[in-house]
Amino acid sequence: QLILDNLDVHTTIQDTRSIVIPGQSEPAVSRDAQITVLGALNSLLSRDMVHFDTHEITSHVLTSEGSQVALEGSHEARVWSALPTKGQGAPVTPAQLEKQFGGELVQVGQRRAFKNGWIGKEGAGFVQILSTIEDTTRMDLLEIQSSGTLKSGERTLADLRKRKLIVQRKGQWFTVHKGPNFSTSTAKPETDLTVDMLTSGAWKTSTYKKYNFEAEGAPTTGGSLHPLLKVREEIRNIFLEMGFAEMPTGSFVESGFWCFDALFVPQQHPAREVQDTFYISDPPRSLDPEPEYYKKVSMVHERGGFGSTGYRAPWSHEETTKLLLRTHTTASSAHMLYKLAARCRGEDVEDDRPAAGKEGQKDDGFRPAKLFSIDRVFRNETTDATHLAEFHQVEGVVADRNLTLADLIGFMKVFFGKMGIKQVRFKPAYNPYTEPSLEIFAFHPMLDRWVEVGNSGMFRPEMLEPMGFPKDVRVHGWGLSLERPTMIRYGINNIRTLLGHKTSIEGIENSPAPML
Ligand code: PHE
Repeated sequence: QLILDNLDVHTTIQDTRSIVIPGQSEPAVSRDAQITVLGALNSLLSRDMVHFDTHEITSHVLTSEGSQVALEGSHEARVWSALPTKGQGAPVTPAQLEKQFGGELVQVGQRRAFKNGWIGKEGAGFVQILSTIEDTTRMDLLEIQSSGTLKSGERTLADLRKRKLIVQRKGQWFTVHKGPNFSTSTAKPETDLTVDMLTSGAWKTSTYKKYNFEAEGAPTTGGSLHPLLKVREEIRNIFLEMGFAEMPTGSFVESGFWCFDALFVPQQHPAREVQDTFYISDPPRSLDPEPEYYKKVSMVHERGGFGSTGYRAPWSHEETTKLLLRTHTTASSAHMLYKLAARCRGEDVEDDRPAAGKEGQKDDGFRPAKLFSIDRVFRNETTDATHLAEFHQVEGVVADRNLTLADLIGFMKVFFGKMGIKQVRFKPAYNPYTEPSLEIFAFHPMLDRWVEVGNSGMFRPEMLEPMGFPKDVRVHGWGLSLERPTMIRYGINNIRTLLGHKTSIEGIENSPAPML
């Protein structure tokens, strides 16, 4: 404010050391005062209210010894003042002086007082020779204390420096001009026009902050998709562009029948045990499936049929009605395949698609289908860096007449190729519901090794024929987790940083779109 008022009167301030800070008698010559001035100038400069030039100077400040001299007098003056006037009292001995001031001060003071002709020797002691002295050292220091320099010049300054009473410091002072936004008011310019300003009329006299069209906008906050959802979207698009339809997968809770029995998983299979599957106690039982179908499924397990010898193991109805959290989305695929076969079973279903068979073949009701799902599954597993008790499965199912293993392999090559996985390998594997079964391995260039990316196979006749599919209908399917490709893609090596309470919201917000 002081600077602005000064400028208002004088247009420029030649030397900021001439400003008198209110409450202080002397102008702001000291180094500290100029540091305060610089702070004010910078804040005014940022609002274009002033411009200023900086001048470098070296100034002097007192050392602690120098401050003491400025306060109490120089060593020589203090020695002098402790002595009697010549002929008017007993001379003071060096020992007495030392007792009063300490050896160091006396040595310097005595020597300099002698040199100045202020004191003389008398007997064993000293007396004053001059009755009045001028303590120039102290006066010089006082001048330096208030102005940072000495009018009398560099020689004395050098002498005082040598005596370690002052030290040199770099300092600055400034010449200040009015800036384009000069005003004597330091009130911050308004950024908003308010109702109050309108009613009071203050809007007429207020200054307003200019729009800064170059300013970067504040980043907007909003929801963002989890990496899993991004990759899910990407995979969903691959399925859709390959002509697949999405299966309904809303039922996380399934019965033992649909999750296992319908898939020809033996009732004694280890996957059914509580260590692997979460069972539900309430409600205790599922509804029974459609009786005709149930009869066929239980028969193929117990005694065989449709060209199979079956497992010939005891069959438990109770096992089929247990409720559980589905361990794979193939349970949902089983529902859909059963539904797809409805027309083959002679049920009346609305489906206006044309029959798909060889020319002249009688319409047995079968219609080809390509289905997919991406949804959550649950396994009672010990969790670790790569396993959680729940994860997502991607599953594709293709039903058509006379499909072969080559069709499955070809399909998967195209599918994984669209996911960016160009190098795939297949390894014979085992699933209770597919024969043959293939594990899919992809070469991971970053990891420099083959990693398992999925599981697949041709569904068994033991599964398809009880549903009512004609014998020439083959269904192949494949499944993979959504987490694995997501982790590989985002370079995440611990699944707990992808899901759960250790997930970083910021990391999710900043995760890039998947590369497709
Ligand atoms: N259900 C299998 C799994 O959980 C995947 C799969 C689906 C295999 C369809 C073959 C056919 O790994």
